[in-house]
Amino acid sequence: MSKKKFYITTPIYYPSDRLHIGHAYCSVATDAMARYKRLQGYDVLFLTGTDEHGLKIEQKAREAGVTPQQFVDNIVEGPRGVKDLWKLMDVSYDRFIRTTDDYHVTAIQRIFKRMYDKGDIYKGTYKGKYCTPCESFWTESQLVNGCCPDCGRPVVDAEEEAYFFRLSKYASRVRDLLVNTDFLQPRSRVNEMVHNFIDPGLEDLCVSRTSFSWGVPVDFDPRHVVYVWIDALFNYTTALGLLNDRYPDSDYETYWPADVHFVGKEIVRFHSIIWPAMLMSMEMPLPKHVFGHGWLNFGGEKMSKSRGNVVDPYLLGERYGVDALRFFLLRTFPFGSDGNFTNELLIQTINTDLANDLGNLLSRTTAMAEKYFGGTLPEQQAEGPEDAELLAMAGALRGRYEAEMEKYAFQNALGEVFTVIARANKYIDETAPWVLAKNEADRPRLARVLYDLAETLRICLVLLRPFLPGTCAKAFAQLGAGEALQSWESAAVFGALPAAAALHKGENLFPRIDAEKELAALDALMAAQKPAEAPAPANRPAAPAADIGEHSPEISFDEFCKVEMRVAEVRAAERMAESRKLLKLTVFDGERERCILSGIAKWWAPEALAGKKVAIVANLAPRPMLGGSYVSEGMLVAADTPDGGCSIAFYPDDLPAGSRIH
Ligand code: MSP
Repeated sequence: MSKKKFYITTPIYYPSDRLHIGHAYCSVATDAMARYKRLQGYDVLFLTGTDEHGLKIEQKAREAGVTPQQFVDNIVEGPRGVKDLWKLMDVSYDRFIRTTDDYHVTAIQRIFKRMYDKGDIYKGTYKGKYCTPCESFWTESQLVNGCCPDCGRPVVDAEEEAYFFRLSKYASRVRDLLVNTDFLQPRSRVNEMVHNFIDPGLEDLCVSRTSFSWGVPVDFDPRHVVYVWIDALFNYTTALGLLNDRYPDSDYETYWPADVHFVGKEIVRFHSIIWPAMLMSMEMPLPKHVFGHGWLNFGGEKMSKSRGNVVDPYLLGERYGVDALRFFLLRTFPFGSDGNFTNELLIQTINTDLANDLGNLLSRTTAMAEKYFGGTLPEQQAEGPEDAELLAMAGALRGRYEAEMEKYAFQNALGEVFTVIARANKYIDETAPWVLAKNEADRPRLARVLYDLAETLRICLVLLRPFLPGTCAKAFAQLGAGEALQSWESAAVFGALPAAAALHKGENLFPRIDAEKELAALDALMAAQKPAEAPAPANRPAAPAADIGEHSPEISFDEFCKVEMRVAEVRAAERMAESRKLLKLTVFDGERERCILSGIAKWWAPEALAGKKVAIVANLAPRPMLGGSYVSEGMLVAADTPDGGCSIAFYPDDLPAGSRIH
C-alpha cells in the first residue's frame, strides 16, 4: 500500500535582505509540521524557496552596483544566505524553488497565457496615482495625506497599459470557500478577509507591469512583466512540475493539492483570495488549507531593518544551539497570534523547560540508573501506588499531542508534553528513589520507578522529535532507545522500552544559563549589530536636528496647565482598513472609553499597545478624521526617535487610568 501524502509549503521569501528570526519562525514551524508528518509515516514533500523578482530587488541591486541576478544569488546561495540559514536551523526542506529558475519562468509564461486565452486575463488601462521616484502606482485609498505611502512625496495622475485578471468573476466562489469551508485558518482571519476585502467589492487585479523589467516577461507582449504575486503564488505548483520539464508531471499528480500553506498574516489576502481565484481560473484543485500565522515582534515593535531591531537567528542559534531556538519559537508563541520576542523570554524558556524540566529529568534518571544499577535495570520490578497516574498520562499523551498538532497548535502540543514531564519530575519527589536505594528490599520498586521515568521520557522524546531533532537523537542514545523505540507507533504504548533497559548518563543537553550575565552579554551583542545610523523609515521624516534645536514659543505656567494629560488604559488597538498610517485606539481615561486615532501604525503593532497604560492629551477638542468617518477624542503622547520612529512611554500596570500627568 502506498504511503499517504502530505505536501506543505512556506511562503517563498524575498531575498531583498538577510532573513531574520521572523522568517525563521515560519520555516521552523513548517519544518516541525513536516517532521511530525514524516514521523507519522507520511510521504512528505516540504517546499520552500525565494521570491526573486520585482522592483525592490531591481532597486537594491542597482544600489549595490550588481545585476539583480547577482544580488539574489548572493543572498540565497552566498555565505550566511537563505540556504545557509535553513541548514543552520535544521530546516529539512525537500525542495527549494527560486523564481528565477528557468523552468519556473517558462511555466509562469504558460500559465499567464492560459488564463489570457481563456479570457480571464485581458488588456486594459491602469489608472492611478503614480509616484515617479518610486515608479509605483497607488490607489487613492493607499495614499497617506495625498502622498506616496512609501516615500512621502507627491504623486501624479497617470495611466498605463496593463493586463488585468478577472478577480471579480470569482468573488462569490471565493467568498463561499472562505465562509463555508475550513480552507482558511485560524477562523478569525476569515472575517477579516470577507469584511475588509470581498464584501466591499473585489476589483479586477492588475497583473502586469511595464515600469520595470526585473520579472517574468509576458512572452506574447514582452514590454510587460508578470505581476510578482502571480509569479510567486504559482511556485507551489511549478515546483511540482506543472507546465515545465524540470520535475516530473507525476509529482504534481501525486502531491497537488497542498495540504497546507503556512503564511504570515499580512499575506493571507494573497493566499486566500487571489490564489484560489487564479486556481479556479486554471481549473486546478485548491489547496486544502491556508494557515495565517502571527508575527513575531521585538520589544513590542515590528522587526525592521530601518529600526535596527531585527533579531539575528545566527547569533542566537550559534549561542544557544539551534534546537533551543527552534523550541523557544514554537513553545512560547501561539502560532496563530502575534508574539513578542524578548531575550528574557528566550533565556527563561531555555532554563525552565529545557534545562530544568527536560534536561534534569533525563540526567537524574540516567544518573540514578548508573548509580544504583550500573546502568542496566533489573527485570524484577515492583509496581507502586504512585505509578498509575504517570502511566495514564504518558499513555494518553500521543493522542492529546496529535489533536493539537493537527490544528497546528504547536504551543499546545508542546504544553501537553511538558505537562507529562512535570508530572514525571513530581513522581521522583513522590517516590524518593534515593530513599528506596537505602533498602535492599526496595530494589524492585526502585527499578520500576526508574523504568517508569525512562519510559515516560522516551515517549516524550518521540513527540519532541519534530521540535528538537538533534537533541532527541542524543537523548535516545542515553536511554538506549534504538530506531524502533523512536517511532510514532511506539509512542502510543507505555512499556515498549524493555524492562532491562540500559541507560547511561551522557552530556548535559541544556546547561543552565546564568540569566543576568547572559542578558547583559546578549544586549551588548545585539546593540553591536545595530546599524550605526539607521535610515529614517519612509514617510516619517527623521526627527530633524531642527526639531530638537528649535523650540516652540514660550508659554506661561497657566497656559501649560490648560493641557490636561492623563494616564489612559488601551482597551483595544486595531489597524484601519481606511488608513495605513493610523491605528484606532479605544482607551479608558478613568471615566469613559474614547476613541483616539493615532498616526503610529508604521511603528507599532496593535498587539504591542493593548492593555498598556499610556499618556494622552485628554482635553483636546474632538477632531473628525478620515473624511468625517471617525472622531478622534484626544491624542496619544509619543516621542520622536532620532531615526524617525516613535517611542511611547508606558506607565506601570497598577497606576489607575485617569491619573493626572503634570
Ligand atoms: N515573497 C512574499 C511571499 C510570497 S509566497 C507566494 C513575502 N516574502 S517575505 O520575505 O516578505 O515574507 C515571507 C514570510 O515571512 C511571510 O509569511 C511573512 O509573514 C514572514 N515574516 C516576515 N517577518 C516576520 C515576522 N517578524 N514574524 C513572523 N513572520 C514574519 O511576503
